[in-house]
Amino acid sequence: MSLKEKDEHDHLGWMEEKQLSPIEKGYLFTLIWLDKRFRVVDYLELLETMYYRVNLQMPKSHTEQYNLDNKFWYWYPLYALGSFSTLAYVVAALSGALLGFYYTPSAALAETGTVAYSQIAMIMQDLQFGFMLRSIHRWSAQVMTAAVFLHMLRVYFTGAYKEPRELNWLLGIVLISLTMGFGYTGYLLPWDQLAYWAGQIGVEMALSIPIIGEWVAQLVFGGFSLGAPTLQRMYILHVFLLPFVVTSLIAIHIAIVWMQGIAEPH
Ligand code: HEM
Repeated sequence: MSLKEKDEHDHLGWMEEKQLSPIEKGYLFTLIWLDKRFRVVDYLELLETMYYRVNLQMPKSHTEQYNLDNKFWYWYPLYALGSFSTLAYVVAALSGALLGFYYTPSAALAETGTVAYSQIAMIMQDLQFGFMLRSIHRWSAQVMTAAVFLHMLRVYFTGAYKEPRELNWLLGIVLISLTMGFGYTGYLLPWDQLAYWAGQIGVEMALSIPIIGEWVAQLVFGGFSLGAPTLQRMYILHVFLLPFVVTSLIAIHIAIVWMQGIAEPH
């Protein structure tokens, strides 16, 4: 028997001896299969050591420090607002991806209004469950904005922004701004009257910035009045740039919470 065969024989024999359940057997079998090819166990152990090293240096969370695990603490429900924002974001992202199958960011003229507008009308009137998909997207977006705002109030009133969490507060400011950016760029996509005039206000706000106003209007809106370039920019911001940036920043934000632990109230 070769060494390799002996190894396999030993593993299988050990599994039989321990009388493992089929799930446990499947798990071990996959792990051994992967380990033989990619040394995954070494890497998992490395990760584990890193986890404990990082964790040792982090301050204790409120519940750890005061042993509050089994006591109800009246602020607790409000501590779910950050996760609630994340959940709303995931729902908006998934429903948005599905809406993307049916929408074209085109300001070209169609039979009824522009192509973009008539696609939205099609989603609402002709597409099976289209109205529901669009409603889920709009509602999750609005719930996310509200949840993020309330989450910020919770962080403020429990004093959780103080040292050592200043950076996460600043990151939060960026996140709430980008959340509003998501809302604004999405609002313009139906290219209806509401969208058009909200866009006009945006251009004028950009133009009111001293010195760089005209440059900002060109960059963000594609000119000083609204047109096809505006819609195209809003689309790319909404479905490409913002999703990448916001998803990464949320991941960093939550990773920092994981490293620092939840703050105790001040
Ligand atoms: C997309 C937006 C956001 C998401 C998804 C998010 C997510 C989270 C999550 C899941 C937590 C864990 C604790 C909790 O849920 O309360 C947290 C904590 C925190 N967030 Fe956010 N957040 C967002 C926006 C903000 C904003 C706008 C601010 C403030 C300007 C902020 C500042 C903080 C701080 C300082 C903590 C640490 C709190 C503590 O240790 O008690 N976050 N965030």
